[in-house]
Amino acid sequence: MAEIQLKHMYKKFEDGVTAVKDFNLEIKDKEFVIFVGPSGCGKSTTLRMIAGLETISDGELIIDGKRMNEVPSCDRDMAMVFQNYALYHHMSVYDNIAYSMKLKRVPKAEIKKKVGEVAEKLGLSEVLDRKPKELSGGQKQRVAMGRAIVRNPKVFLMDEPLSNLDAKLRNQMRAEISSLYQESDSTFIYVTHDQVEAMTLGTKIVVLKDGEIQQVATPKELYEHPDNLFVAGFIGMPPMNIFDGACVPVNGVLHIRVGKALLPLPAQMAEKLRRGDYINQDLMVGVRAEDIKLATDGQLESRVEVYEMLGDYAYLYLTYAGQKVCVRVSANTDVRRGDTIRITFDMEKIHLFDKYRKHRI
Ligand SMILES: Nc1ncnc2c1ncn2[C@@H]1O[C@H](COP(=O)(O)OP(=O)(O)O)[C@@H](O)[C@H]1O
Ligand SMILES: [Mg+2]
Repeated sequence: MAEIQLKHMYKKFEDGVTAVKDFNLEIKDKEFVIFVGPSGCGKSTTLRMIAGLETISDGELIIDGKRMNEVPSCDRDMAMVFQNYALYHHMSVYDNIAYSMKLKRVPKAEIKKKVGEVAEKLGLSEVLDRKPKELSGGQKQRVAMGRAIVRNPKVFLMDEPLSNLDAKLRNQMRAEISSLYQESDSTFIYVTHDQVEAMTLGTKIVVLKDGEIQQVATPKELYEHPDNLFVAGFIGMPPMNIFDGACVPVNGVLHIRVGKALLPLPAQMAEKLRRGDYINQDLMVGVRAEDIKLATDGQLESRVEVYEMLGDYAYLYLTYAGQKVCVRVSANTDVRRGDTIRITFDMEKIHLFDKYRKHRI
């Protein structure tokens, strides 16, 4: 059981940097929460405050109803896995994994059994006698995981644990972390700058920018309903196409103007724009690569600058009205670099944002 609440948490460093601002979050038991955002946005600092490795400047950390601000790190029943593994270099793999149990004076036979089980699960049985420097990056990462797993903590805290691995190993370890989560009863808090990792692992994602929460949502909600332009541009690969646009009435029907194209709005969106006083106002129009279609009567016309084949689909890159555009098409589509194409948006799937306040309309 671990219900974690972060209430108005701040981190102000001595040099004046406020790394975390008014962080509010409720984490339920057995959730897999991700903190994602660009480098320097305060992910590690927030995680370290939860772990007790960093003091909380203001606000409260509550776990299962109890204030934790003053509770030392070692009494928080959390296990942390770091990007740089932080192994004990003079100890063997066996001793690294066994360390916390030895400290707790767990009987030797029990330690042996537990280390054996975890090593088996993580594919480390053959290297238990080695020192960390004799291991590959992936093996070191597994030892760090093993060390956390044997503690059977209430909460796993992971700070970019896969960032030092190559792409293939990263995918493999991602799947392993996922099954570790499925099999355990622990709550996970996981920091990454990689939105693919965030989307595939998390049950709840917290998007951060400049020390402030931008949105808290499931992966699906984030993708389908980003709350603001930052989240829209950050979540999703390729990033959402974003255009300068305007809301204009044509014969009593509201349209979006993008470049020279005039695209009629679905009734519900038109109603929102009316209510928000956006008629004849500038706004930002977001549309994902898969929501742009080739159409002979499409109003947006441009030349394909790059054709990128990715198996059963391909990306076309072009420029329209000064904006770079990425269009996803089937690999069977007979369009190549240099071709001039006409495209249109799936208007039910477009995202509209306030140009100045940056939020979703
Ligand atoms: N010990 C520290 N002293 C002063 N500033 C720090 C310290 N640790 C981190 N920061 C600053 O706090 C901000 C957030 O850092 P961090 O939490 O490490 O970001 P992230 O993990 O998202 O990359 C950054 O501007 C960073 O420079
Ligand atoms: Mg960090």
